[in-house]
Amino acid sequence: MKILVLNGPNLNMLGRRESEHYGSLTLDHINERLAGVAGELGLELEFAQSNSEGELVSALQRAGESCAGVALNAAAYTHTSVALRDAVLCCGVPVVEVHLSNPAAREGFRHVSYLAGAVAGSIAGFGWRSYALALRWLAEKCAS
Ligand code: DQA
Repeated sequence: MKILVLNGPNLNMLGRRESEHYGSLTLDHINERLAGVAGELGLELEFAQSNSEGELVSALQRAGESCAGVALNAAAYTHTSVALRDAVLCCGVPVVEVHLSNPAAREGFRHVSYLAGAVAGSIAGFGWRSYALALRWLAEKCAS
């Protein structure tokens, strides 16, 4: 069972970016840890990151053809993108919204998620473990 772990803008900068919010792990470090979790759960992971909204939309559309589910950290597009919300709604597989930090505890503009009403659920505030928790739910959901 293949799951897409899809990351949005500026998450390629993890490790060099606002460590008080995002910690010190790079995206590669996080993905290595997730590969370990996936091994335990019997999942195959595909990893993708883009700074471009359109590429993220296309990745979600492709995931509907080739994956059983998606763990999506849309980063700043979470708070702005109707296009990504629509892509979540039409991709046809469960999508879990993931955040490293807890946007609800940060600036007001981060309190709105355009994705929250379209995704299966949201996990935020647990650092790289937010992704791991999303994978655990997806493994159970997609196996049932
Ligand atoms: C983020 C939270 C967003 O508000 C922010 O724009 C990001 C990262 C997170 O993982 O905590 O880039 O999605």
